Parts: sequence; C-alpha cells; structure tokens
Amino acid sequence: MPFVVAATWSFGLRAVSKAAEILASDGKAIDAVEEGIKVVELDPEVLTVGLGGIPNLIGVCELDASIMDGYSLKAGAVGGVRNVLNPISVARKVLELTPHILLVGSEATSFASKLGLTILEFTWKSGALEKWKELLSKMEAGTDLQPYIERIKTYAEYYRLHETISIVALDRYGNLASGSSTTGLPLKIPGRVGDSAIIGAGVYADNSVGAACTTGVGEIAQITLLSKGVCDLMRRGLDPQKACEKAIADTFRYRCYPGGIAVLAIDRIGRIGAASSRKDFLYAYMIEGMDKPELKPGVYIER
Ligand code: GLY
Repeated sequence: MPFVVAATWSFGLRAVSKAAEILASDGKAIDAVEEGIKVVELDPEVLTVGLGGIPNLIGVCELDASIMDGYSLKAGAVGGVRNVLNPISVARKVLELTPHILLVGSEATSFASKLGLTILEFTWKSGALEKWKELLSKMEAGTDLQPYIERIKTYAEYYRLHETISIVALDRYGNLASGSSTTGLPLKIPGRVGDSAIIGAGVYADNSVGAACTTGVGEIAQITLLSKGVCDLMRRGLDPQKACEKAIADTFRYRCYPGGIAVLAIDRIGRIGAASSRKDFLYAYMIEGMDKPELKPGVYIER
C-alpha cells in the first residue's frame, strides 16, 4: 500500500519530509510520526512548539505531547513536562515502557530525566522571550492570576498563536499513527494542559478506521474529543474530508471556548481530510509517488 503522511501548518513541510524518508524506507507509521515531530520541536524559529516556544505566564515552558499507534491501539502522552527538547519522545516512552497513558508535571519531567531525555539549561535562540514580554506588557496583566484571567478573555492575539505540530501517517503495511507536540498557549496559566496531551482530543489512531490530529485552541478539541470524533465519523462511513467538516461544524455548539480549531485526518486507505474554523489553516502532505511534500489549505467552515 502507498504511504501517506500529513502534518499541520507550513512548518509541517519539514516534518512531512522527514516522516516520508522513514516511510519510503519501509519504516513504521509511529516512527515516522515521532521523527517528523522532532524536527519541528528542535526548530528555534517555531515559536509555538518545543522548549524554544513562547512560555507560560511565569516565563516557563511546560510542554504537551502525545502519540498513538493504530496497530496496538496503545498511546502515550505527557502534559506540562519541563526541560525536555523532544517531548514526543517522552510520550513514546510512556507508550512503550509503562502501562499508563498520561504522565504530568514534575513527575513527567522526572520520568524523562530517568531516561536521559531532559536537559539542565536552555537558552532561547529565537524571539520567543521577546514575544512573551511583548504579550505580557500588552495584556498589562502582571503575573497575578486574576487580572490575567480578566484580560485574556479579550486578548485576540492569544487565540492566533496555537500552531501545534500534529501529524498523521499511514505506512506501507497499513499501520496508522497520530502524534502532536506543543508549547501550548502562550502565557497559559501554569499547569494548564491542552489537547496535545489528551488522547482522543489532540490525537487518535486506529488501523481499522483512520487517524486524526488537531491544532488550535486546545480546549475546543478537549471538550469535543475532536480526533476520536473524526475517527468515529469515518467508522460510520463518512470519508475523511466530510468527517473533518462535520466535526468542525459540531464544535460550534461549544461557544464557551472561543478561538479556532482545525482537524486533519487520513483513513485506512490513505484518503486525506482537513477542515478548520480558521481561514488560515494549512497542512503539508505527501503521498508515495510525489517528488516532495506540498501545502494545501484545509476547508474553512464558517461559524
Ligand atoms: N493546541 C495546542 C494547545 O491548545 O495547547
């Protein structure tokens, strides 16, 4: 079967290239997803993924990541992990080494440290810290929680900086996988965990149906279990495109969580679907036989 891989946003082009390299050498979907995501986690120019991203309210990066294998139906995830360059690899270790799915906070960091996956110090190479200071000063919120909560509700830019790297892949053997990694919302309240750490919300994969992943305001994907929802719609017979469009339209009931959300899916025969409540959503994809990955807009669903 020809391999297929798709990833969120234009930085997804680099992730797809790496993943396609692995799939073209008969590699497994889950390896392609992990290695593709690592490329973006390590890119200092990406301000929304990895330790180089824009930190939380108190200037600390707390990272979320998850991965699911559609063959075994096993999953691994970390929420609010610190001092880790590749949170997706820690999530993979949760999947492989433990009987659990999600590790959070300092214990997730300690798990990563025991595996040699933490670093002691990190210096921002990009403009992430400057952006953090700028956002903080614009909000005039200080670091106390109450003014922050008041201001954040009306702070539009906050809702645009949600560019998670999420990937879905189908390998030559018909195995599917889905993964996601993010620094999370810039200036998020410490301890906040988003959809990228929640199986069913940010990622889902099942060889018998398909795989899905999300990007955008995590709370919307969490309240709707968006990735699992798209897989359930595909199981009921919708093609991936229709499943993504319906799932995005269904999120509009949850008006209490403002902002945009996008979902990207492939089914078990390699058809791709993508839809978004944001007009600017792009995804990168590559189907075996293509020379290089290409970018495409997801179908915009108007609220
Ligand atoms: N989707 C990324 C987040 O909300 O944390």
